[in-house]
Amino acid sequence: MKTRMIFVGPPGAGKGSQAKILSEKLNVPHISTGDMFRAHLKNDTKLGLLAKQYINQGLLVPDDVTNDMVKERFNEKDVQNGFILDGYPRNPLQAQFLDTLLKEHGMSLDIIINVTSDDEIIIKRITGRRSCPTCGAVYHIENNPPKVFGICDKDQTPLVQRKDDTEETVVKRLKVYYEETFPLIEYYKNKGLLVDIDGNGEILEITEKILEILGA
Ligand code: AP5
Ligand code: ZN
Repeated sequence: MKTRMIFVGPPGAGKGSQAKILSEKLNVPHISTGDMFRAHLKNDTKLGLLAKQYINQGLLVPDDVTNDMVKERFNEKDVQNGFILDGYPRNPLQAQFLDTLLKEHGMSLDIIINVTSDDEIIIKRITGRRSCPTCGAVYHIENNPPKVFGICDKDQTPLVQRKDDTEETVVKRLKVYYEETFPLIEYYKNKGLLVDIDGNGEILEITEKILEILGA
């Protein structure tokens, strides 16, 4: 079974939603650099304050900061069983850094899952996304609503909207995606590791397709 994977794709394609479900099903850690930055932001760390300036403008956080954070995460034992990288790497330089890092750990990548979606769908998904500041659960006001409006099903915390989830910032994030992240598709295609997944369907149907591809 393939357990060392990366999720790439535009913002709002559903990378995080899929990665969370698969992480539980396969018992491998979900490593989202976006979630890691948001945890720093919540705790008012120095790294959080730095990252905030970039995140709120829809820009990428500088590579050295992001790479160091991921390097540190790979020192934890749980990655030995596999990992789901979500939102990292995000440009060719980060991909090269990851290649070296994995080599140092005696690991290699099994698969890159490219989740695709249309720009209009992406904008609706992102502007309707709400998340739980306590447990990180992600909802959508129409597509995936909580049982009680505005309240997390798991711990009853009031849901919040990400600061970078406004329509204006999403347009910027999409531009950054096409200019900086899209070249990775070619990079991994050339390595024979890339699989495209249509992210426009139902969340659980997409999960089933991915599980099949992973051989789970
Ligand atoms: P990050 O947190 O990674 O955001 P992103 O890549 O823009 O991706 P999103 O979280 O917006 O989307 P997603 O694809 O995970 O969608 P989701 O499943 O939530 O990064 C944020 C920022 O951090 C970046 O802009 C950058 O500044 C910084 N950063 C992060 N990593 C970095 C890096 N490596 N280098 C530099 N900077 C970095 O779904 C979206 C919504 O749609 C949800 O409401 C969900 O419920 C709904 N939904 C999902 N799937 C479906 C479906 N199939 N049908 C209907 N609704 C669906
Ligand atoms: Zn919660």
